[in-house]
Amino acid sequence: MRFSRCTTGVLLGGLAFLCFAQAPPKKGKSDVKKQAFGTMPDGTAVEVYTLTNARGMQAEITTYGGAVVSLTAPDRAGKFADVVMGMDSLDGYRGQAKYFGALVGRYGNRIGHAKFTLEGKTYTLPKNDGANTLHGGVKGFDKHVWKAAPGEGASLELTYLSKDGEEGFPGNLSAKVVYTLTDNNELKIEYTATTDKPTVLNLTNHSYFNLAGPGEGDVLQHEVQIDADRFTPVDAGLIPTGELRAVKGTPFDFTKPTAIGARIGQSDEQLKLGNGYDHNFILNKGNGGLTRAAVVHEPKTGRVLEVLTTEPAVQFYTGNFLDGKDRGKGGKVYAFRGAFCMETQHYPDSPNHPAFPTSELKPGATYHTVTVFRFSAR
Ligand code: GLA
Repeated sequence: MRFSRCTTGVLLGGLAFLCFAQAPPKKGKSDVKKQAFGTMPDGTAVEVYTLTNARGMQAEITTYGGAVVSLTAPDRAGKFADVVMGMDSLDGYRGQAKYFGALVGRYGNRIGHAKFTLEGKTYTLPKNDGANTLHGGVKGFDKHVWKAAPGEGASLELTYLSKDGEEGFPGNLSAKVVYTLTDNNELKIEYTATTDKPTVLNLTNHSYFNLAGPGEGDVLQHEVQIDADRFTPVDAGLIPTGELRAVKGTPFDFTKPTAIGARIGQSDEQLKLGNGYDHNFILNKGNGGLTRAAVVHEPKTGRVLEVLTTEPAVQFYTGNFLDGKDRGKGGKVYAFRGAFCMETQHYPDSPNHPAFPTSELKPGATYHTVTVFRFSAR
């Protein structure tokens, strides 16, 4: 958290900009404040917005990649503390390749062999993960500066226009993401998009959670429950093979709360391929309404994260590519398995798997998904 920097207040009701030292949040009032975060090489100014709900929960969101920089959640004693990995400055974000907290698009997760065919036309994408395309390509949505506008209460609207052909994808895609901190201690993320040509898309948020505090050791003691009876096994490039495999009897069975570390070291082909968990879990309730995907409990602090989504699946990733080389907020070392991600999404490589729920968006239709990260403690 930054408590000393000169802050530009974006006060509800459109009051003039004020410069003041950021004070601890006042109880009972939600608001949004804006601060400078750095400047892009082309001179574009980047900001960080602080959202505060009526209970004092805070989220910092930067316009660079729409990344969640920090997010506080209450522990058993009601004490709010940061639970996500992030960087102190724009340079910090530009100097890493882990998608910390970012909005990921146009296609979150992987597209096999960096190509797909849509309406008879084959589109070739940049390869940025072996032979495949990961998280939208070389310059995905996480590396662009989004336009921001504070909304009602503790909310922030971000918009980004992805031009026809950007990173090989067809259609001008107009994307909007609204982050809201509700007074129920939830970070709600609402994604909408429209296109002028048929395209594929899969938008998600890549927050790395450690409910005991980012940079405070690994997450192996966190207990995870995922409402998924099946997952999509992968090949060596982490591309789904097409099989929908039952989790029962495998280390992927999180239908009952289980510590992340309980089975992660087992000699299992899929765990070896992912170097841990890095897999797409198919949610039992399928697509449609906002339903619970997962619950995570951290026994020391008592913090609980519930994940709700309208998406059909979630990528459960245990930070297996974190290697201790990234230093985050306050110089903290982000070590191997020091966080987990719950990337709500369509299945990876859906454009090449007609049997998977479609990730196509046609002109005239509106893409609309909602994900909620709800925090409590027990
Ligand atoms: C996703 C992928 C992982 C990894 C991370 C980013 O979660 O599934 O394999 O690429 O993003 O490091």
